[in-house]
Amino acid sequence: MIIYKTVTELQQKISDLKAQNKSIGFVPTMGALHDGHLSLIKKCKAENDICVVSIFVNPTQFNNKEDLAKYPRTLNRDAKKLETANCDFIFAPSESDIYSNQEMTDTFSFDFNGLDTVMEGKHRPGHFNGVVQIVSKLFDYVQPNNAYFGEKDFQQVAIIHHMTKIMNYPVNIVSCPIIREESGLAMSSRNELLSTDERKIAVGISKVLNESRTFVGAKSPMDVNNWVCEQINAISGLKVEYFEIVNGYTLQTVEKWEETEYIVGCITVYCGSVRLIDNIQYK
Ligand code: PAF
Repeated sequence: MIIYKTVTELQQKISDLKAQNKSIGFVPTMGALHDGHLSLIKKCKAENDICVVSIFVNPTQFNNKEDLAKYPRTLNRDAKKLETANCDFIFAPSESDIYSNQEMTDTFSFDFNGLDTVMEGKHRPGHFNGVVQIVSKLFDYVQPNNAYFGEKDFQQVAIIHHMTKIMNYPVNIVSCPIIREESGLAMSSRNELLSTDERKIAVGISKVLNESRTFVGAKSPMDVNNWVCEQINAISGLKVEYFEIVNGYTLQTVEKWEETEYIVGCITVYCGSVRLIDNIQYK
């Protein structure tokens, strides 16, 4: 496994691989790798000649400086896990290799067709501009045939599909199911920031979401929404930021279960000061 730290080195390698007609699979990450990432890497390895993993904590997608500062950075540990997972190349560039000073301060503009005005986009203004900005750059550098994203970031996956189509990238987007700890807690790099007690408390999120599935049809989406928020807020240490029950394609709130055949509940909860996201498919 080789670690490339500059765009130039990576691009040289990619053009060699393209000349040899190798298929390239790509898993973009911000590091602090867990079994959720490793499941993407396993799939990527199985479906491509070459597996490239990027590790870059992208500053332009953080609208909160404190959140960016405390994001876990564990490159050496990540590299060991990737070696074991038979990853071929890591791309771990520096900020200055990726962004000019102007790009760091100007908001990247993109037509999201409304996908960014709800949920994460509403609560983290500019977040998805930063995500599209970095993922489009990474696609340009890596030129993958297939790119792998986890469904925990449900809205991100919808936006990446949209971006790929609008920007005409010849990349197949593969979305992969959420990987959960035995307790049900969705795996996330942010779980590293939870204390042992908080980790136990955070299990309440997936428990309540799971239970809420039993009400589909019997209660309206709005009543299920209220029930979920009440149950989670009643757990000491948890505070719901938002919960939305949405059409899985358009991300717009649904009022009736019959509106579409694809309905997902997306939630963000603070566990102490750690912001956790999760989702559940209702239909
Ligand atoms: O999901 C993530 O870890 C990030 O948003 C991504 C896709 C690597 C872009 O920085």
